Amino acid sequence: MNAETLATNGVVGESTPALLNVDGLTMRFGGIIALNNVSFTVQPHSITALIGPNGAGKTTVFNCVTGFYKATEGKLSLNAGGKQTDLRKVLGERFQWSDYVNPKAFGERLYYKAFGGSHRVALAGVARTFQNIRLFRELTVVENLLVAQHIHLDRNLIRGTLRTKGYRASERKALETAYHWLDVMNLTEDANRLAGELPYGNQRRLEIARAMCTEPKLICLDEPAAGLNPRETEDLSKLIRKLRDEHKVTVLLIEHDMGLVMSISEHIVVLDYGQVIACGSPKEIETNPKVLAAYLGTEAEEVVS
Ligand SMILES: Nc1ncnc2c1ncn2[C@@H]1O[C@H](COP(=O)(O)OP(=O)(O)OP(=O)(O)O)[C@@H](O)[C@H]1O
Ligand SMILES: [Mg+2]
Repeated sequence: MNAETLATNGVVGESTPALLNVDGLTMRFGGIIALNNVSFTVQPHSITALIGPNGAGKTTVFNCVTGFYKATEGKLSLNAGGKQTDLRKVLGERFQWSDYVNPKAFGERLYYKAFGGSHRVALAGVARTFQNIRLFRELTVVENLLVAQHIHLDRNLIRGTLRTKGYRASERKALETAYHWLDVMNLTEDANRLAGELPYGNQRRLEIARAMCTEPKLICLDEPAAGLNPRETEDLSKLIRKLRDEHKVTVLLIEHDMGLVMSISEHIVVLDYGQVIACGSPKEIETNPKVLAAYLGTEAEEVVS
């Protein structure tokens, strides 16, 4: 299935350009092919789920989309805020000896070394949370949210040393943003506690708050319900809807909790062994023999019969 075919499966309509277009993504780790020609789209203002059995390649997709890995091949484009960003290109290329005799390649690589990198992905409007929570455990809750905003802060050394009016305004805005998201995530009372001391469910919400502080257009949530009890999962599902409906962010969700996935996603992409085996609405996915076979570990024909 190519990206164009998939684009027509979106929830918003055929004419709406996708917010994220993943086209022919391949990721190799030495001899391991973690992703093999993966293509799908995420429509603006949708909740799209990426599901599949353990080791299918879901987190690797997130790592490529958010700039933690540079995909071996393929295109990743983000169409947000009237701007198209090539999420793979902004990461730049590694220097190679051959560059030193090719001034154009050398210049390009030097440019990206100086101005490119994974923070460009965040600036373009993509944020994420992690499968295994990654907070600064020894910093307070509010400090975690301030650190996350460094990409938007005024970091000019002279203005910082002189503590100019503009610099202080930028600091104040960061603090206001942090407290806004603490309020939305119901974490205000925890603002000055160490992040590592929070109960597990609150740490998960703090990770979402941290991602939202960077003002993303697309938030990628990697198993946000893992380890939560049914009540917390229900609250999380309301929260994800609220992020999309009230805070106008598009959600790409990896989750093993099928109840949650089926109830909140409009579009589902299924990966197995690094390949897209199906995509469609929850109803279509629920009854897809290939999907059932992937989860049950049998052949699709056996499921049908
Ligand atoms: N940095 C890496 N080096 C080598 N292999 C890797 C690396 N990252 C991922 N892989 C391999 O890629 C495959 C996909 O892993 P990935 O973590 O993306 O799966 P997943 O679908 O997120 O699984 P889970 O549901 O268990 O989180 C696995 O075989 C994994 O071992
Ligand atoms: Mg994973």
